[in-house]
Amino acid sequence: MAEFPKLALAHLPTPLWRSDALDRLVGAEVWVKRDDMTGGAEAGNKIRKLEYLLADARAREATHVITCGGAQSNHARATALLAAQLGLGCRSLLRVNDPSAPPAPTANLLLGQMAGADVVFISAAEWTERTALMQQHADSLRQAGARPYVIPEGGSNGLGALGYVDAMREVREQLELGLCGARQPFDAIVHACGSGGTAAGVAIGADEYGVAPVVHAIAVCDSAGYFERAIGAVTLDVAALKPELDSFAEVVVHDHYKGPAYAVASDEQLDFIAVVARRTGLVLDPVYTGKALFALARLDPKPSRVLFLHTGGLPGLLAQAEELAQTCKRLSTSSAHS
Ligand SMILES: Cc1ncc(COP(=O)(O)O)c(C=O)c1O
Repeated sequence: MAEFPKLALAHLPTPLWRSDALDRLVGAEVWVKRDDMTGGAEAGNKIRKLEYLLADARAREATHVITCGGAQSNHARATALLAAQLGLGCRSLLRVNDPSAPPAPTANLLLGQMAGADVVFISAAEWTERTALMQQHADSLRQAGARPYVIPEGGSNGLGALGYVDAMREVREQLELGLCGARQPFDAIVHACGSGGTAAGVAIGADEYGVAPVVHAIAVCDSAGYFERAIGAVTLDVAALKPELDSFAEVVVHDHYKGPAYAVASDEQLDFIAVVARRTGLVLDPVYTGKALFALARLDPKPSRVLFLHTGGLPGLLAQAEELAQTCKRLSTSSAHS
């Protein structure tokens, strides 16, 4: 059985959290796996992937990492902070509407810059060539004497996905300890899907450790077909690394909960996020986790005992302060009138 180097970067095990008020809002027994608590400013689902990817970078004696994402990428932020922790340089290629007019340095972007990331803004057209572009940046860093290591979008390859196979072993251990009520598997796992690596690792681990027979991956961009291919490719990548991991839980990709666009939530989704915060104290973000839990509340048929993977993304919420403030105002006005 091949073992791969892994760094201990995350605070684990993450807690399982449940609230009667949340169960009522969603209409199911919801166990929230708090992967928003995997760390400090670097928290979220990316750390579990980066524990493997950065260990590989170290084993290859890399001096720099290169990665890519949206302007408010949680993955780029986590990579920059953890690279700084490990003494590695970090270059982030971030997609923006107009690279000649960069966005304000807020939230994830600010945190990445604070960690010293060398941010290069790229256009949507360049984004379609992101893999080749990252290789070009790697070549130029190499020519300058550095040893770069390229991390794909979202840390989503076979090695990164192993982090979520391990997360499912962690949940199985929590089930055995009786921390989730019954020891039997959940009916389903639900989480946000942005590049497919989490879904692939969760599906493999859920099967391997008997955590749930079905994974509902809630797409926040692209189509169900796109993610079925992406998740399938990462799954094959995992099996190439660890041939014993050759089976997985059923994955259902939902692409009807994206809202108006990637990183744009509908008023209904924003209201839901604010209501969840008010009634339960659980904070979801408008790009990933808010849309995923909103989807779970509407799934039909709805699984009755669910593991909801809270994948983090708090800075993404802070980047949309205006929209959320308006939402809170709207809710306060409507409750005052009802
Ligand atoms: C907060 C958050 N949740 C979920 C995801 C989706 O994970 P994945 O990229 O592995 O599909 C991401 C990243 O894309 C994220 O930043």
